[in-house]
Amino acid sequence: MHFLKDRGFFLPSSEITPRAGYEGRRDLLKLLAGGAAGATLATWAGRAAFAQATRPGKLAALPGARSAVAGAVTMEKTTSYADVTSYNNFYEFGTDKSDPGRNAHTLKTRPWTVAIEGEVKKPRVLDIDELLKLSPMEERVYRLRCVEGWSMVIPWVGYSLAELIKRVEPTGNAKYVEFVTLADAKTMPHVGSRVLDWPYVEGLRMDEAMHPLALLAFGLYGEVLPNANGAPVRAVVPWKYGFKSGKSIVKIRFVEKEPRTSWVKAGPQEYGFYSNVNPNVDHPRWSQATERRIGEDGLFQKKRATLMFNGYEAQVGQLYAGMDLKKFF
Ligand code: MTE
Repeated sequence: MHFLKDRGFFLPSSEITPRAGYEGRRDLLKLLAGGAAGATLATWAGRAAFAQATRPGKLAALPGARSAVAGAVTMEKTTSYADVTSYNNFYEFGTDKSDPGRNAHTLKTRPWTVAIEGEVKKPRVLDIDELLKLSPMEERVYRLRCVEGWSMVIPWVGYSLAELIKRVEPTGNAKYVEFVTLADAKTMPHVGSRVLDWPYVEGLRMDEAMHPLALLAFGLYGEVLPNANGAPVRAVVPWKYGFKSGKSIVKIRFVEKEPRTSWVKAGPQEYGFYSNVNPNVDHPRWSQATERRIGEDGLFQKKRATLMFNGYEAQVGQLYAGMDLKKFF
C-alpha cells in the first residue's frame, strides 16, 4: 500500500504495481505434468469456466446453495482464489496488499463472539458457531470495487444481513447499523499505528442494511474465510466501495445517528459515509470512471468502465431516489 505522508489515504491504481495473474495456466501445467492430458484438459476448461464451483481444499468446507436473490450471482469470471486471498486491504495487518496474507495467521478466530447492541428489542451476544447456523448459507458471486480503482469477482458464502436484523427486532429509533471490528494489538501488528482510528468502524443506513444483497459473509470459494479476508465474519456490500465491508466483526450496533466511520474520520473530503460506487463522482485526487480487474494484467489490457452502483443499480437504485449523490458521496 502506498501512502501520502503517513496518512492512510489511498492512491490510485495506476500507482500500484500490477501482479501477475496466471493461476489458471499454472493449474493447467500442473495437470499436464501429472500425465492425463486429454481428459484432464476438459476438466481444467470446466474449472476455469465455473471456478466458483471448485473449492481449493485449504480450509474447512463451507458450501452454500446458489442464491436466488435478484442480482446476487454475476456470471462474470471469478478472480482466482490465489489473487482473492493474497491481494488484500486489512490495515490491522499492514498496509501493503501482501501484508494480510503474510501476517494474518496470528488472528485467532475461535473463541469468537459478536455482540448485538443498541436499539434492538433482543440484544444478545452470539457465539460465532451460533451465528453460522442462524440462516441457511448461500453462495453469492459479487463484484467488489475498491475505492483505489481495482476490482475482483468473488464467490462469497453467507446469508443476508437482514436475516440477523429481523431476529433481533430493531426499535423505531434504529436508523443506522454500525459494524465494529476487532482491534487486538496482541494479534494485529498494525493496530495502534496512526493510519486509522481503531477499531475499524463502518456503518450503513437501516434500509441499506436490510437490502437482501447486503451480505454477512463467513466464507468464499466454498470454504470458511481466510484470515486475510476477514475471518470469521465480515460484511459485504457489493454496491459500495470495498472499504464499507468491515472485516472480522465483533459488534453490530443499532443506532439513531449516522456512525462516525474510520475512513470518514481519516479524510472526510475523500471518503463519504455512503461511498456508493459512482463513476460520475470522482475521488478528489483521481477519477472513479474506470477500474482494473485483478488478474487482467496484460500490458495492453484496457481498463473496464466502472458501473453505477457497481452494476447493482437495478436492485439498489431506489434506496437513493431523490438524493443528491454528489453531496451524499
Ligand atoms: N476491514 C477491516 N477491519 N480493516 C480494513 O483495513 N479494508 C477494507 C475492507 N474491510 C479493511 C476492512 C477495504 S479498503 C477493502 S477494499 C476490503 O475490505 C477488501 O476486502 P478483501 O481484501 O477481502 O478483498
